[in-house]
Formats: sequence, C-alpha cells, structure tokens
Amino acid sequence: MKIVRTKSDLRALLEPLRGGRVGLVPTMGAFHEGHLSLLRAARRECNTVVCSLFVNPTQFGQGEDLERYPRKDARDRELAQAEGVDFLFAPASEEMYPPGFETWVEPERLALELEGVIRPTHFRGVATICLKLFNIVRPNVAYFGAKDAQQLAVIELLVRDLDLELEIRAIKTVRDEDGLALSSRNSYLSPTERRIALALPNALARGAEAGRDGGDPVAVARAALDEEPGLKTQYVAVADYDGPRLLAAVQVGKTRLIDNVSLKGSKI
Ligand code: PAJ
Repeated sequence: MKIVRTKSDLRALLEPLRGGRVGLVPTMGAFHEGHLSLLRAARRECNTVVCSLFVNPTQFGQGEDLERYPRKDARDRELAQAEGVDFLFAPASEEMYPPGFETWVEPERLALELEGVIRPTHFRGVATICLKLFNIVRPNVAYFGAKDAQQLAVIELLVRDLDLELEIRAIKTVRDEDGLALSSRNSYLSPTERRIALALPNALARGAEAGRDGGDPVAVARAALDEEPGLKTQYVAVADYDGPRLLAAVQVGKTRLIDNVSLKGSKI
C-alpha cells in the first residue's frame, strides 16, 4: 500500500491503472468495521482500491467537533493495508483547500432537511469534497455507507445532476452486537452514555416494526426515544431515499448520533 499526500502524485500513480476498475472509498479515518466493510466491497469488486482519509474541515460547522474528531493515522494505515488498499490518499488541508479556494457545490432541498436543518453548511462541504475526490481519482465506482442515508442520497443526486460518470455503491450499516451503529463518534461516549445511546437503534427497530404492522413509525420511534431521559431527540422522520427509511438524530451528552433503517425490507 502506498500513502499518497498530493493530488499530482495520486493522478500519476493511477494513470497506468485506468484500464482496470478503480474504486474509491472516501473516509475521515478512525476506522471501524463500517469503514472496513466498504474497503472489503471495493477490494472484491475493483482492480485498484483508493481510500481517501481526510478530516474535511468544510463539512463541520462552527462549534462542532472538528478539533476533537478522532485521529488515528497509524492504526488506520495498518487497517487499510490489511484490507488490501492500494493507495491511501491522506492529503493535508492546504492540498485540498489552497488559499483563495471559493468554489462550492451547493446541494439544495435534499441537503436542507433533517441533518441540514441542524447542520446548514454540512452537505455543501460533503458534496464539494466528494466532487473534488471524484475529479482527482476519477473512480469507476465509489462506496458509501447506508448509515449516513441522507449523505448517500445527496451524493447520488450530485452524480446525477452534474453528469458524473461513476457508479455509487451503497453498503449496509454495520452494527455492534447490541445494535448500535458503528461510528467514529461512538468513541466520545462514556460507558453510561453508550448504554443510553442504544435507545436510538431500539427506537428505530420498534418504529419499523410498527410500520410493518400498519402503525406510524415516526410516532412509535419518537415515543420510544422519549422513554429515555438521558438523550435529546433532534428529529425522527421518514424520507424516501431510494425507498422509505426511518431516520433519527439524538444528542447524548455532547455527542450527536444519527441512525436509520429501511421501512420496506430493502437489502440495506
Ligand atoms: P466517515 O464518517 O469517515 O464515513 C466514511 C464512510 O463510511 C461513509 O460512506 C459512511 O456512511 C460509512 N460508514 C460509517 N459508519 C458506517 C457503518 N456503521 N456501517 C457502514 N458504513 C459506515 O462520511 C464521511 O466520513 C464523510 O462525510 C465523507 C463522505 C468521507 C466526506 O468527507
């Protein structure tokens, strides 16, 4: 595995490999099994696997966790290598945002609901960095987790609206044994908070079950979250992202957690 720091080096390294299928897995590091499942899918399906590791400052709002976002570069390098990644692209911030940077991808309606209400500039940062990565790597396929269902929908729309020539592959949410969706931000949780956080997947499961029985998934999930006094519910909603999904965001102590489930027995 090669660690690559600059766009020009990465382009040069990829040039002779364009005959085969190039897969990109964009990440912000602090790898867990969710990231690894994306890397494994890429390794199975592509000749060349590029993993980007970049804590993208522009998708964090004022007062969010950019400074304390977990950084585990040495461990991430080992994990990426073990998964057979060919190129780990880990640029410095100035490489991606040189002085004078001022051109943005502004997703609209889809990016302004749910997460967008609480994080109004988040998806502009995500869409911009993803388009930049797509332009640098020019992958045939890019891998995203269903854990961030709204992000996945924003990226699929970006690809469609801007006529990008790549396939987006959605990968099922990886969960701990007790059901908590894996997230780099879970490392912020104390043992007590970790226990409280379980109310999130449990409430979504109850909501989805109610939905299958003809009930109101949002009302049921919200009521289940209300039973847990240790968390604050930010939203519970149904959205149609390639099929209906039940989504929720909660705050446990200082940590924001999001999760979602399919409402119509889709595979992911
Ligand atoms: P990050 O949070 O590091 O996530 C990288 C990818 O891993 C995303 O596609 C995310 O949906 C996926 N992922 C996270 N947790 C998962 C889980 N439990 N199961 C399956 N997949 C999971 O998402 C980002 O980074 C950034 O916004 C990025 C797209 C890299 C742009 O900066």
